[in-house]
Amino acid sequence: MIDRRRFLAAASLAAGAARGNTARSTPLKADFWGTQYYDDKEQQQLMDVLEARQPFRWYGSGSTPPMKVATFEREFAARMQTRYALAVTSGTAALQCAMAALRIGPGDEVILPAWTWHSCYSAIVLAGALPVFAEIDESFNIDPSDIERRVTPQTKVILAAHLQGNPCDMDRIMPIAAKHGIRVLEDCAQSVGASYKGRPVGSMGDIAIYSLQLNKTITAGEGGAVVTNDPVLFEGASRFHDVGGFRALHEKVAGGHRVNAFAGTNFRMNEFSGGVLLAQLRKLDRIVGDARANARRVYDGIRDLPNLRLRHRPDPGGELGAGIYLGFKSKEQRDRFAGAMKDANVLVAPPVGSVLLPTQEYIEQKRTVHPAWPSFASGRGLSIQYGAACCPRTIDILNRYAGVLIDPKFTRRDTDDIVGAIRSAYPAGSQVL
Ligand SMILES: Cc1ncc(COP(=O)(O)O)c(C=O)c1O
Repeated sequence: MIDRRRFLAAASLAAGAARGNTARSTPLKADFWGTQYYDDKEQQQLMDVLEARQPFRWYGSGSTPPMKVATFEREFAARMQTRYALAVTSGTAALQCAMAALRIGPGDEVILPAWTWHSCYSAIVLAGALPVFAEIDESFNIDPSDIERRVTPQTKVILAAHLQGNPCDMDRIMPIAAKHGIRVLEDCAQSVGASYKGRPVGSMGDIAIYSLQLNKTITAGEGGAVVTNDPVLFEGASRFHDVGGFRALHEKVAGGHRVNAFAGTNFRMNEFSGGVLLAQLRKLDRIVGDARANARRVYDGIRDLPNLRLRHRPDPGGELGAGIYLGFKSKEQRDRFAGAMKDANVLVAPPVGSVLLPTQEYIEQKRTVHPAWPSFASGRGLSIQYGAACCPRTIDILNRYAGVLIDPKFTRRDTDDIVGAIRSAYPAGSQVL
């Protein structure tokens, strides 16, 4: 049986159609960003590596040394306005390098948002430290007002993840960290190219990571990066990613070495990835500009809707425009809106790209590769409880929002369709907040 609101939404859409505003014949869906910009630039980078027969970043045959990854690091640091950048194999690897650089280990606690990606949790656990969840706010990022009550004398790091292109409220997070002598790790995996009050995300905390995997702004399929202004953190990350060693090029960049060797792993990027990422990095501002322009067209087209509630954006000018999220009073209203949008062939979804970590079964069970894992062997580790009870506000927020994902290559017709569908479905499908 069709309920009244659904009926009104459908009627509104029909009225739109009568005005010539017809529903799309095929569903509108955002594609991956970086790969849509692949052209002869990426191709040439790959050809260079093949022709030089130099797939390994540190040495190879030929008269000139391999320089793709090294050049990517130099240009990435410049773009992110940091002194150092380290290229690695993934964002997950980058998080592990950052934990090692920050010397996080057993007995330490790291505060992270309840809504983010698995790797944030696993990097903390694999370091032997204890993850402590904080709630998100209506930006979908960590709620600065919930951080302080999670701080203990063991807290070493706040993991501030800028999710889905939306920067965290760094002006509120940094003073809390400074007050308690805690370091800030910015996770920019989902926000490569975003900024906060004029500063690139990743340039404000002590150390930052990025993902360059397929779903991110620029990509080589897989890839990651670590940036920092601190030569000690840079050396720690570099050593960890390269089985404890500190290569001559990085030592030169850092102006000498300051850290003794320690046990590390191998997260080195290869020259093929470095070349593709170099070509992609040089297009980053174009990709971000295109996405922002499309998002702006949608925001402009709906801003006069009565009672419009958008996801909170601490710096609307700095976000990537990856998703236009609308808030509702209840999950039922949100779902009715999503149904009406589906009827118009413009798909909306609940917040995506992250997971509600505390309710993951393996996290609730505190399951690790070995039963004596240090994270959960201490009194504090044994007593900490995860599960839905530690993040009720996060669950409530995620239940009440839905959004349209934006593609930088959407046409004007596409963004007009999004605007038309929202304008038809929003007032009818909801009693907004
Ligand atoms: C917030 C966040 N951090 C870290 C990562 C890990 O990046 P990767 O997939 O490159 O390992 C992701 C991946 O989606 C992420 O969303």
